[in-house]
Amino acid sequence: MQEQEKSPLEQIGDELKLLFSGEQEMYGALKALGLVPGNMLFSHISAERGWIRGGGETYALPFSVHMKGENKDGKYAHELKLVFKACTPFPGPVPLLKIFDSWIARRKLLEANGVSTPVLCGAFSALVLEEYLEHHLSDVILQTNDRFSILNELGRSLGVIAKLSFNPPGSIICDLRSRGNDVVFIDFGYDLGDPQLPAQEATAMDILNRTVRDLIIWKISAQEEIDYFRAGFLRSYGRLL
Ligand SMILES: Nc1ncnc2c1ncn2[C@@H]1O[C@H](COP(=O)(O)OP(=O)(O)OP(=O)(O)O)[C@@H](O)[C@H]1O
Ligand SMILES: [Mg+2]
Repeated sequence: MQEQEKSPLEQIGDELKLLFSGEQEMYGALKALGLVPGNMLFSHISAERGWIRGGGETYALPFSVHMKGENKDGKYAHELKLVFKACTPFPGPVPLLKIFDSWIARRKLLEANGVSTPVLCGAFSALVLEEYLEHHLSDVILQTNDRFSILNELGRSLGVIAKLSFNPPGSIICDLRSRGNDVVFIDFGYDLGDPQLPAQEATAMDILNRTVRDLIIWKISAQEEIDYFRAGFLRSYGRLL
């Protein structure tokens, strides 16, 4: 309840201190993390709101770190967008920190196999500080003039997920984000599904077919577009065989 009464900036300050114990000042914590490079000057932090429920299993606190730099063309401003995410999984017998560790391990597994994830700035006690990804993947796919390559990349990423034998229970692509020209996974919890070892081909084909149906709902339905997605999926799924 008390959290509700704090301003967004006070909430960010509390979390930074929790993550980077020993640093009393927000600036010190950001600097210690390497988030304010030596050639930039910290200006201020801004946030539109405090903690809110991100979805079924998370709370989110997005904010920006504003900095100033100087180069041969003169002074410029730089905004670094970040988000705190708190892990609040569905209640069950597994302790919270164990679930949190498994999310971090799954995230690292995806990264090690070439799936893009947000830059992880810090992780502690069911809390992560990570890169804020500006775009929903759906917006990027609908607006880009390089749709084929993003669809191919989406297929490649999902092929890896399938090959690693994850079995997402619902639509996967609605949770995906983008930096504008890529495909980034942000959810390593329930929505990724539990690995079913050994990998089942039927599950992989189900992921493929379900995603094609989701793409059609997004009005990505031209045969050539679906073919690019499918080719990316089958190539990465097959390559890992
Ligand atoms: N790093 C990020 N940058 C930008 N947006 C994010 C980031 N992480 C999560 N989000 C947004 O918050 C939403 C919820 O995040 P996430 O899927 O991790 O939590 P969840 O509790 O599983 O939510 P849901 O039940 O809606 O899937 C995502 O769909 C995404 O739009
Ligand atoms: Mg989710």
